[in-house]
Amino acid sequence: TPPGPCAMVIFGAGGDLTKRLLMPALYNLSHEGLLPENFAIVGVDLADMTAESWRDSLLAMLKSFVGNSESESDLDHVDQESWNRLAAHMSYVRGDLTSDDLYHALGEHLDRLEDRYKTGGNVLFYLAVADRFFGPTVEHIGHAGLADEKDGKRWRRVVIEKPFGHDLPSARTLNKQVLGVLEENQVYRIDHFLGKETVQNIMALRFGNGLFEPIWNRDRIDQVQITVAEVVGVEKRGKFYERTGALRDMVPNHVFQLLAMLAMEPPVSFDAASIRAKKAEVFASVKPLSPHDAVRGQYGPGTVQGEEVPGYRQEPDVAPDSATETYVALRLYIDNWRWAGVPIYLRTGKHMSQRTSEIAVRFKQAPYAPFEDTEVSTLSPNWLALQIQPDEGISLQFEVKRPGPLMELAPVRMNFRYSDWFKQEPNVGYETLIYDVMIGDQTLFQRADQVDETWRVVQPVLDAWAAQKPEGFPNYASGSDGPVEADDLLRENGHYWRPVRLPDHRG
Ligand code: BG6
Repeated sequence: TPPGPCAMVIFGAGGDLTKRLLMPALYNLSHEGLLPENFAIVGVDLADMTAESWRDSLLAMLKSFVGNSESESDLDHVDQESWNRLAAHMSYVRGDLTSDDLYHALGEHLDRLEDRYKTGGNVLFYLAVADRFFGPTVEHIGHAGLADEKDGKRWRRVVIEKPFGHDLPSARTLNKQVLGVLEENQVYRIDHFLGKETVQNIMALRFGNGLFEPIWNRDRIDQVQITVAEVVGVEKRGKFYERTGALRDMVPNHVFQLLAMLAMEPPVSFDAASIRAKKAEVFASVKPLSPHDAVRGQYGPGTVQGEEVPGYRQEPDVAPDSATETYVALRLYIDNWRWAGVPIYLRTGKHMSQRTSEIAVRFKQAPYAPFEDTEVSTLSPNWLALQIQPDEGISLQFEVKRPGPLMELAPVRMNFRYSDWFKQEPNVGYETLIYDVMIGDQTLFQRADQVDETWRVVQPVLDAWAAQKPEGFPNYASGSDGPVEADDLLRENGHYWRPVRLPDHRG
């Protein structure tokens, strides 16, 4: 069902995020009939555009996605009617984010839209702007009276993109600024990984089945490996990435969200309060990381999927002696009854051999092997691998008897693939999240304390890395699975990384 009436204001209407992710998502929602009937979209930017030229540039971008399977959008073709429906509700306000004038003009514009489109005065403000503008923009919204819900007669919600802070102190400052203007229930800190079907599916797998939860603990689980490997490099984002790096860009947000889904206790119900509380408990149970548990890497030149690519230091807007990491591997422990002592390994990097994100759970070996010439240590491990993207699915590896006269064991895999079972491909994430903001469901958004806890965990590593220049950068070739130092991290525990590769669905 479509959400109730509202207007959506996009700050940063001319930016990359709007073009590549928000608009395709809004288009998809329009196409699926999931936008409100009484709806308006307002683009806000400094760029000298009119409503018409803004719409045209977005349509051109949408069309460029068509037939391009690596794009952020699932569009097969742009359906003119769905686009027209959207375009008819789009307007543009030009202005400077840092000036009060903009917010007064915007307020008046919103009043007119309320009359014209019957949006009920409900407004979703989406901050698709550089992170330094998050705090000030929210304050401007507040000063101009735009956050006022008039005693519940209308709603006002603000979506804040990542990065939410740069470290623990800045995240705290930002939370303070934001909560100085808004109530927590008006704040939607977005992490687009949470919109991915397969991330939400972790909860379905764990809490919708009787099979897994009884063995989902330190008694039966030996280790967990979470991998978010990308083949893309920094692309045109050198400036942003130089001061961000892989740890800040991916870990306290995306990778930790996967961790929380994997490790949280069963919620009492599926409402935002229960789920957010359970996730926050996971983060609170992780001790601040020791730099000894972290490995950083930076890609050098190499070959990624058959294509020769430059090293990170040769990318545009990157310093030739850059110390920024494009890869990070971490080992952490969750100090609670369920997980104590189970090593959890996390890694993410750019320019790796394959694009694949998976959560792999390794169960303990059989305690004894009664077969001839077979030691327990030679049995293949039982891995349960949740393939988050691409080729979404779940696979379970176990031993079977190899056909033939001898009692010989061989590992096989049982595979579930989304595409085999469901006609519909899992979506990219933003659709679900935008829809959730419109209906006021905060389940898949970060609460202030969660953000705080995740920065607290990584802060010692950020400090240690800032204090000491990395040695031997670049330390992994583009197209490889990361630096050898990451292997050493696991070897200390007698473990090894799973290869970064897509599942072989032939078994
Ligand atoms: C973004 C990061 O948040 O997530 C990017 O800033 C990264 O560096 C991207 O490439 C990965 O998202 P997805 O959905 O493409 O896996």
